[in-house]
Amino acid sequence: MSFISTQSYKGTRDFYPDEMRFRRWMFGKMRETALKFGFQEYDGPILESFELYAAKSGEELVNEQLYHFVDRGDRKVAIRPEMTPTLARLVAGKFNELPKPIRWFSIPNLWRYEKPQKGRLREHWQLNVDVLGGERSMADAETLYFAHELIRSFGGNAHLDMRINHRGLMDQFFGSLGLDAERAHKVTKAIDAKDKIGPEKFHQWLKDLGLGATEISQIDAFFNEGFEAIRSKFAGVAVDEMSQLFDRLQDLGLKDSCRFDPSIMRGLNYYTGTVFEIYDTHPENRRAMFGGGRYDNLLGLFGKNQLSGVGFGMGDVTLEDFLRTHALVPDFSSALDVWVGVPDRAHWKSAQEISRTLREAGLSVGVSLDEAGFGAQIKQALKLGARFVVLFGEEEWKSGKVVLKNLGKNEQTIVDAADVVRVIQTQ
Ligand code: HAM
Repeated sequence: MSFISTQSYKGTRDFYPDEMRFRRWMFGKMRETALKFGFQEYDGPILESFELYAAKSGEELVNEQLYHFVDRGDRKVAIRPEMTPTLARLVAGKFNELPKPIRWFSIPNLWRYEKPQKGRLREHWQLNVDVLGGERSMADAETLYFAHELIRSFGGNAHLDMRINHRGLMDQFFGSLGLDAERAHKVTKAIDAKDKIGPEKFHQWLKDLGLGATEISQIDAFFNEGFEAIRSKFAGVAVDEMSQLFDRLQDLGLKDSCRFDPSIMRGLNYYTGTVFEIYDTHPENRRAMFGGGRYDNLLGLFGKNQLSGVGFGMGDVTLEDFLRTHALVPDFSSALDVWVGVPDRAHWKSAQEISRTLREAGLSVGVSLDEAGFGAQIKQALKLGARFVVLFGEEEWKSGKVVLKNLGKNEQTIVDAADVVRVIQTQ
């Protein structure tokens, strides 16, 4: 008989308690910061209809990365690869009841059939933060500010590179080159790959798409000119929106972390305005940590109501790489506050009583499930990562005392059983 492998499915992770502690800490900080900014948490099902993504999520996501199947009732079902279409569905579903502007967040697990590599897995968790409604530049600025403040809550804000572009500007630019939507889309793919493949291959790609030397040099100029030059050449709504956004980011003290980057295109089709990606400045972490932008027409999939939104997704895999690279992960070695030993069966009830008092004081307490001597109990407590161990035998119990050992300091004292909580809390 051959045994079943203990390996998890390719591109997924098991979360043993140590990893789970880390994940809880990370998500806890995300939640705490989002709540501080007045965002409300939402969630949806992991399964959605295939058509929810087919319309606007972009061909790479739908044709290459989507997990989908036909269910027993012949419905075409997809496992969510991103949260934004679900968010739009939820908002459209209760459009008139929801107070605007909507500020929502969620931490869903998402599935994409990708080649697993650094920063990319098949299952990841993604903090989604979105604002629907409100004045555009204020909402865009607040979204980026939130991203910055979230990383600051982890102590890492000095390492951020926030790159901003505008879909409307790119449409104007492609129009000036005489490209129709289909060819512009193909050029977008080349732009997306530009930094990875280098200038020679990039130029060849553009030639293969039928672009002449003039267009290619216009494209090169566009990428090298900087915002001020582009602003005067492409005057209009897009550059005005971007200028306002840069002013607001300056007001928030983010000027040095932000820059205009026309190579930020974003693969998802629903973006219509500001688009951005946020990177770690450390060269080891090359993948975007945050990706987002403004979408004007996504709610239109579900009916007549329209409401423009802006938001981002930030993945847990790239965040973990960031936190580890910059040594921002605290020590998680203490899984348990107190371990309470059971000297023998007759005193199991007494051990439970002490544990209850400790738990009522807010401590996490494990009680031994074996009768054992002091030495064995201490060994077990150390293995489990407890900070303290409470021990007693017949003699201590009769005189209302227990032995309290601080395992971190390797110090042992005899204290009144009634006083053990206070003593632990002062150490
Ligand atoms: P996205 O750029 O596809 O955007 O993903 C956002 C972030 O999720 C990425 O920057 C990365 O940190 C993480 N991520 C994406 N795919 C993977 C993967 N396979 N493995 C690990 N991490 C990954 C969206 O999904 C948009 N729906 C975000 C959004 C929200 N736009 C507006 N609101």
